[in-house]
Amino acid sequence: MAKRSNPDQPTPVEEIMADIEKIIDTQIEVILRRAEKINEGNNGIICLINIKDIPELEALRKTLGKREINLDQKQAIKILKIYKPGTGQKEFELQKKAHEILTAANVANTARIPSPIMFRDVAIETATQDRLNTMGSKSNSNRAEVIIMDYIPGDDLATFLFREAVKMLPNYADNPESVDQYDFQSLYRILSEELKFVVPDRSKANMEQAEQQSFEHNMNLVYKFLQQTGYTKKPEKIELLQKIETQIRNAVNLLNQNGLVLRDGHQRNFLISQQDGETQVYVIDFGDARAFTGQMTESVYEEELAFGVTKKYPHDLKVPNELAVLSERHEKKLFNPEDISKLKEKYQRSPDFQKILKKLQIKEIDLETASKLILGKVNSFQNTAEGLVALIFVTLELNLTSKEEATEVLRTHLEKSIGEKKNLLVKALQSL
Ligand SMILES: Nc1ncnc2c1ncn2[C@@H]1O[C@H](COP(=O)(O)OP(=O)(O)O)[C@@H](O)[C@H]1O
Ligand SMILES: [Mg+2]
Repeated sequence: MAKRSNPDQPTPVEEIMADIEKIIDTQIEVILRRAEKINEGNNGIICLINIKDIPELEALRKTLGKREINLDQKQAIKILKIYKPGTGQKEFELQKKAHEILTAANVANTARIPSPIMFRDVAIETATQDRLNTMGSKSNSNRAEVIIMDYIPGDDLATFLFREAVKMLPNYADNPESVDQYDFQSLYRILSEELKFVVPDRSKANMEQAEQQSFEHNMNLVYKFLQQTGYTKKPEKIELLQKIETQIRNAVNLLNQNGLVLRDGHQRNFLISQQDGETQVYVIDFGDARAFTGQMTESVYEEELAFGVTKKYPHDLKVPNELAVLSERHEKKLFNPEDISKLKEKYQRSPDFQKILKKLQIKEIDLETASKLILGKVNSFQNTAEGLVALIFVTLELNLTSKEEATEVLRTHLEKSIGEKKNLLVKALQSL
């Protein structure tokens, strides 16, 4: 290897690399100057650009082309509102991981992730900073964290449901096309008045939690309204809601099984793209996501902050579970009364169930003891046929008609003995 005359001096190759980096940074700044704001969340501003169509972005397009990054689609640019070095990079890496998990799984009926293109933490000029501030940035730094990904045309699930709800209002029902022009804020305002939305309690110390709670409350008002107006009785709407539910549930399960939890699974973080009669859901926003190793437990949804405060994150399956209720999947009785006695007989005769009884050394079925024993052993049964049969039996014994009901009763009834195994039990019941 040729010796360097001065190790502190960059080599020519290093110099070229540094120049390329500088060019990319300048190009990102062009993006920040040219992109149009289309949306925002609590943490990020979302802009739209089409790199391919902007001659000034030729250098970036070439660089990305060399990395085989596809620029056929328009791009969404997420700019973090608060500059906190490392945050954007982490978010981008988790989005990449999620994208890889779902691409590798390559299964049908699952939500996708917008292709992550690149992340950049760039220096910005004052004029750019000013522009970002007018778009809603809360940063006064001369740097910005920028995530570039595929733009997904369509509505997020909250906007989608709001739009559907507004179209059910007498004043708008005659002219649904006009409702298609409204953005999230306009739809929110209309429904806020009609359905008496609550506003977050600003006196609360934990503003973020207060906002989360009021959003949840208002979302429930929209669900209720959709049910009352008969929206959820329309077969084509039921089918659509169930399609969305399935895609989200499958994607979440795949991510969770592969060591990634979203922890921000609310309606605004799922995008619904409807093209050529096809519905495709996208999972976005990995700002609160976390990677973990080993089996997932409920503890991933909790984080110890300073001063003994615990932060609680929403469950990844919250939205699909709500959609199941909305599309009346839950009302489809798990077993009707005639079937219950037949099934009971069948399971009592089942070799798997006999094995369980033997293992537990019980002959007579007494609900209390059997349930406790079975649930106490849920961990060792895992998702085995035996475990499932046992759970089915408990469900039947309790004479419950829906999974939700069964889960709820089992949860409260045996809260203490289930403890950590709650998640597993819920999972087993869900797979019934
Ligand atoms: N790739 C994308 N394509 C189209 N719209 C998007 C995209 N990413 C985000 N959005 C829209 O912008 C909103 C805010 O983006 P998000 O990443 O959730 O930001 P935040 O972290 O602030 O919640 C989303 O609710 C969605 O409506
Ligand atoms: Mg979001």
